[in-house]
Amino acid sequence: MNKAGKIEVNIYLDEKARETISRELNLYLSNLQVFYAKLHNLHWNVEGRNFFKVHEKLEEYYDYVSDHIDEIAERILTLGYRPLVKLSDYAQNATLKEIDSKRYDVEESLNIVLKDFSELIGQLRNIIKLVQEYGDEGTADILIGSLKEFEKDSWMLRATLS
Ligand SMILES: [Fe+2]
Repeated sequence: MNKAGKIEVNIYLDEKARETISRELNLYLSNLQVFYAKLHNLHWNVEGRNFFKVHEKLEEYYDYVSDHIDEIAERILTLGYRPLVKLSDYAQNATLKEIDSKRYDVEESLNIVLKDFSELIGQLRNIIKLVQEYGDEGTADILIGSLKEFEKDSWMLRATLS
């Protein structure tokens, strides 16, 4: 216990590592939250042939992202820090761009999602490199799981769009 009477985090990762990684995870969490909202937007606003399939697929994506958001927030707590919780913080920290509520055709919708998967994959690769440098294999394991998932989703979207 430290002077403040708080039990210290001792998972054999120093504070600098835990703080740096948590900050990066909060940026990633912000992107996931914006992505989650965008997937809902497209789920609701997509129109055209194949509506049923795309509408359903987008729901599958946001369900996955929802679980992943929880996993990332809980990892930040595991590292001894707090996850961002305000929508205003997410909007400020996200690099993914928000989109309007309007009609999107199927191809347009899938292209938007594919582009965001790409951006998330790029961000994930950078964070994975960082966490591995610090020897934080627990975080790496979580991030590598979603990296594989987003890579596979990207392949399937490319196959659909080609
Ligand atoms: Fe729905």
